[in-house]
Amino acid sequence: MLSWDEFDKDEGEEAAKGTTATQAAAAGIDKLDNAGGVAALEARAVTAEDSEAVKRAKAALDQLDIAEGLAELEGSAARVAVDEKRMINCRADLNQLVPFKYDWAWQKYLDGCANHWMPQEVNMTADIALWKNPEGLTDDERRIVMRNLGFFSTADSLVANNLALAVYRLITNPECRQYILRQAFEEAIHTHAYQYCIESLGMDEGEIFNMYHEIPSVAKKAAWGLSYTRAISDPEFNTGTVETDKELLRNLIAYYCVLEGIFFYCGFTQILSMGRRNKMTGVAEQFQYILRDESMHLNFGIDVINQIKIENPHLWDAEMKEEASQMILQGTQLEIEYARDTMPRGVLGMNAAMMEDYLKFIANRRLSQIGLKEEYPGTTNPFPWMSEIMDLKKEKNFFETRVIEYQTGGALSWD
Ligand SMILES: [Fe+2]
Ligand SMILES: [Fe+2]
Repeated sequence: MLSWDEFDKDEGEEAAKGTTATQAAAAGIDKLDNAGGVAALEARAVTAEDSEAVKRAKAALDQLDIAEGLAELEGSAARVAVDEKRMINCRADLNQLVPFKYDWAWQKYLDGCANHWMPQEVNMTADIALWKNPEGLTDDERRIVMRNLGFFSTADSLVANNLALAVYRLITNPECRQYILRQAFEEAIHTHAYQYCIESLGMDEGEIFNMYHEIPSVAKKAAWGLSYTRAISDPEFNTGTVETDKELLRNLIAYYCVLEGIFFYCGFTQILSMGRRNKMTGVAEQFQYILRDESMHLNFGIDVINQIKIENPHLWDAEMKEEASQMILQGTQLEIEYARDTMPRGVLGMNAAMMEDYLKFIANRRLSQIGLKEEYPGTTNPFPWMSEIMDLKKEKNFFETRVIEYQTGGALSWD
C-alpha cells in the first residue's frame, strides 16, 4: 500500500530536485521553439557540481538533432482531423489519441478496464481437495480439465504474440491500439490464470504446457492459428497493397473469429458446465472471467474487420469472402474434432454430438457477424445457458455488476 508520508518526508529534497527537472523540461521545449533559447543554454551549461557522467549526458544532448527525430513522423506533424483516421495504412499522427473516430474501440477499452480481475482473487481450495481425492472426479472429467488447461495455457500466449508482434504495428489507429494494449494485458492475465490453476492442482507443468506439441487435437488448432501469423509477424511485412492488406485481414479473421471465436468454445462450455455442477468451481470461475474478456476481444475483432471492409471495399471481393468462409468452416471442423477427442463418451450432461451442434451454431454467428452466409442452416443451440453469458446486452449488465463485485471481492454466481 502506498503511503503519502513517505512522500512528505522527502518533500524538501524532492522539491529541490523538481526544480532542476522542471528547468530541464523547459529547456527541451525552448529547444524545440528556438534551438538557442537562453533558458535552454542556461540549463544545459556545465557547472562545477556536474560529474563526468552528467557532463557527458549534457554534451550528448547538444548533438541531438530534433529535426531528424520529428522526420520519423513524416506527413503527420499536424493536428489530426477525424476524417484522416483510418484502420489501416493511415498517414495521420498515431500518437494523437483524440479526436476519436471509433468510439466503440475507446468504449471497449474503458469496459475492459472496468472488468479488471486477477487470478489470485479466486479461491481454489475446493478444487485442490476435489482434484487430489481419487474418488473426486471421473477419468472423463479429469481428461477435460487436463486437455483444456493444455490447450488454453499456450493458446492465449499465441494470441498475445500475434497482437504484440504483428497486429499492433499494422492497425494504424490510436484508439484501437489502446484497446489492443488492454487486450494484450488481458491475455497475459489469462495465461497467468491457467498457470495458477496448474500450479494449485499440482499438475505436471511440462506435460500441460507441451500438449500443443504432443496431443494431436490440441496441436492441430495451434498449428492452424500459427499458419496465419507467419507472414505478418515478419518485421519486413507491411500493408499497403491489395495482397498484404488481405493478408492482415486473413490474420484478423483467423485470430478473432476462429481462435478466440470458435477454438475457445468447446473448452469454455465444458469447464463452465463443470462449475454449474459444483465441480472444480475455482477453475470454472477463472474460465468465466476469461470468457467475459474473450467475448469482448471477439466483438472488438469483428468491429475492426467490418470497419476495414467499409474503408477498403475492394478487399472484400468474392475470392476473399470465399476464403474467409472456408477459414471459419475449417476452424469449426477442428473444434468438432477437439470435442470428440475431449469427450469420447457423454460427460457432464453433454456429449460430442451436442457440442458439434453448438459449434455449428457458433460458426453461423461468426459467419453472419462478418457479413457471410450461414453454412449450417437450421442449427439450434443446445446450451442456451452459454448463450445467456454471450449475449451482449446481458454482458454489459454483467460488467456493471462486476465492478461492484470487484470492489467487495464477491464471487460470481452460477445462476
Ligand atoms: Fe485470452
Ligand atoms: Fe482473447
